Amino acid sequence: MARILGIESSCDETAAAVVVNGSDVQSNVVASQVDLHRKYGGVVPEIASRAHIECIHNVVRMALTEASCKPSDVDAIAYTSRPGLVGSLLIGATAAKTLGWAWQKSLIAVNHVEAHAVSAAIDADAAPWPAVALVVSGGHTSLYRVDGFGSIRLLGATIDDAAGEAFDKVATMLGLGYPGGPIIDKVSESGDPKAHLFPRTLLGSDSLEFSFSGIKTAVRYRIHGTGQTTGGLEQLSEQGVADIAASFQQAVVDVLVKKTMRAVAQNGAANVVLGGGVAANRSLRKSLEAECQNRKLGFHAPKMAYCVDNAAMIAAMGYHMFRDGKTAAFDGDVCAR
Ligand code: KG4
Ligand code: ZN
Repeated sequence: MARILGIESSCDETAAAVVVNGSDVQSNVVASQVDLHRKYGGVVPEIASRAHIECIHNVVRMALTEASCKPSDVDAIAYTSRPGLVGSLLIGATAAKTLGWAWQKSLIAVNHVEAHAVSAAIDADAAPWPAVALVVSGGHTSLYRVDGFGSIRLLGATIDDAAGEAFDKVATMLGLGYPGGPIIDKVSESGDPKAHLFPRTLLGSDSLEFSFSGIKTAVRYRIHGTGQTTGGLEQLSEQGVADIAASFQQAVVDVLVKKTMRAVAQNGAANVVLGGGVAANRSLRKSLEAECQNRKLGFHAPKMAYCVDNAAMIAAMGYHMFRDGKTAAFDGDVCAR
């Protein structure tokens, strides 16, 4: 048995969790900074790192208290070492190193996007491998072949915006607020997904890369008029806004589902797993599940708490790395990419 303390600070959530044997989540504490960044319409790196400093101590303490866990009960400390905002990553890494040094524990440096790729396995009945994993977050849109926690191979990624980033930017264009993903998800419920035909960019016929900049521009022109960058929003009714949101969401979901199935066809996996903040999107979960059912593939989505940034997935991934002897040096660096 191994009990891992996980620490996550790669973007705008400060999180800590205690997870036993990679799946039994004893605590999962997340302090979101969304209110601090809202007025800027996106994450401000300097504000994010300062906020991590202010709350990381309490977040770690809460995670230990909720799990009734003393420092001596912890076997190792896993932290996000990449990718992310460098200043933010440094806070989590420094906290992990300080506690590791004080408590004499091993350190494990975890890749945040790979942790998203395996987050559907947390609290699950059986391991969903071999699988194609679709990770859709604010910073990444990636397909992986996953044969186990220690065997994660990148198949393709976005060449421009991430899917979550596109949700956030389109929500801003529609005057819906920040963060845009959950708002577009909600507003789309009352919109017609067939009202506008936005482009589905698939790139080459066997490409597993993504591009979301074209659809963003198409939405911009739909709102402001072709070639325009301002105006037009005030002419849209509430229904008009909902129709654009729903049509945009449908186009993004169509591309994500199609590319995931393309990856399955090329890689012969029997399962599809989903991960990342956009994995909370109800339309995406529904469409991907339906397509998997049609093709007799297993479909595994993370519980909602493990979609957006969290430390349970860092501790879960960390457990498997710890078991495989993949510990990190105390002078290890963090990396933006
Ligand atoms: O994984 P995550 O918490 O952070 C990164 O690693 O980037 O993902 C955050 C992203 C944001 O872009 C947010 O708008 C999006 O996930 N998101 C959603 C939903 N909930 C969060 N996008 C679409 N539908 C949702 N329900
Ligand atoms: Zn993330």
